[in-house]
Amino acid sequence: MWDDKVAFVTGAATGLGESIAEGLFRRGARVALVDVDLDGVRQVAARLDPAKKRTLALQADVADAAAVEAAVQQTVECFGALHLAVNNAGITGDHNVPLAETHLDAWQRILAINLSGIFHAMKYEIPAMLAAGGGAIVNMSSGAGAVGQAGIAPYSATKHGIVGLTRAAALDYATKGIRINAIGPGYIETPEMAKLPESTRAEFAAAHPLGRLGTRREIADMIAFLLSDEASFLTGGFHMADGGLTAR
Ligand SMILES: NC(=O)c1ccc[n+]([C@@H]2O[C@H](COP(=O)([O-])OP(=O)(O)OC[C@H]3O[C@@H](n4cnc5c(N)ncnc54)[C@H](O)[C@@H]3O)[C@@H](O)[C@H]2O)c1
Repeated sequence: MWDDKVAFVTGAATGLGESIAEGLFRRGARVALVDVDLDGVRQVAARLDPAKKRTLALQADVADAAAVEAAVQQTVECFGALHLAVNNAGITGDHNVPLAETHLDAWQRILAINLSGIFHAMKYEIPAMLAAGGGAIVNMSSGAGAVGQAGIAPYSATKHGIVGLTRAAALDYATKGIRINAIGPGYIETPEMAKLPESTRAEFAAAHPLGRLGTRREIADMIAFLLSDEASFLTGGFHMADGGLTAR
């Protein structure tokens, strides 16, 4: 389906990003897998594409604008263009920390990765997409971008910020062939989630009206849809993928 498309996925070494990259690869795209964890993205690329023909593993810290610019440039040099991007890299920070007890450097770090990281990615992806004649971007927000969540104020603030950044950028490029959307997952089964105590996982599962955690595949499929021509009238949206979590 996407033999003619080149995709760029941040935070692709594990978790949601790994599954998102896999979903785009399985649909035929050439995929740049970008992460601070170079070994991690190399392993994912080797698993998906042993012949190394349609994947490119790149190291970049999304908080570092120059590193993101270089990764986009390397992608275009390697595959000839850029059409699709999923700006997924993000961190949660410490849990159960009331706002006034949040360290200043923790606040700065989450802001730099989660919010500036998405700004950096779009800043360099968009010119490459314009040069390719158009494209589509999905930014990773969260259920915590739709409602406040106690104990993780910096995370919640950045995930709300991503929605604003997405909407404004979508307006900037609406008539220029680039669609930009954000998604808001609930709690998803990932390797990190699997490390939590069973009681915590059960609590998270029960928080969703659907009564379970989401799967990585469900998020990857939704993103593939948003990037596809089937979603051609969707831009500037914040689409929940949360089993009803924020509908309560
Ligand atoms: N897992 C969930 O339940 C859930 C729910 C809602 C939203 N999200 C969001 O989805 C995204 C991925 O979450 P996940 O659960 O897969 O996380 P994860 O911790 O399992 O994986 C995150 C990946 O991003 C990479 N990364 C971290 N900081 C980076 C940086 N500065 N530059 C480049 N790469 C970096 C990590 O190395 C890792 O490979 C995050 O933005 C997260 O906020 C996750």
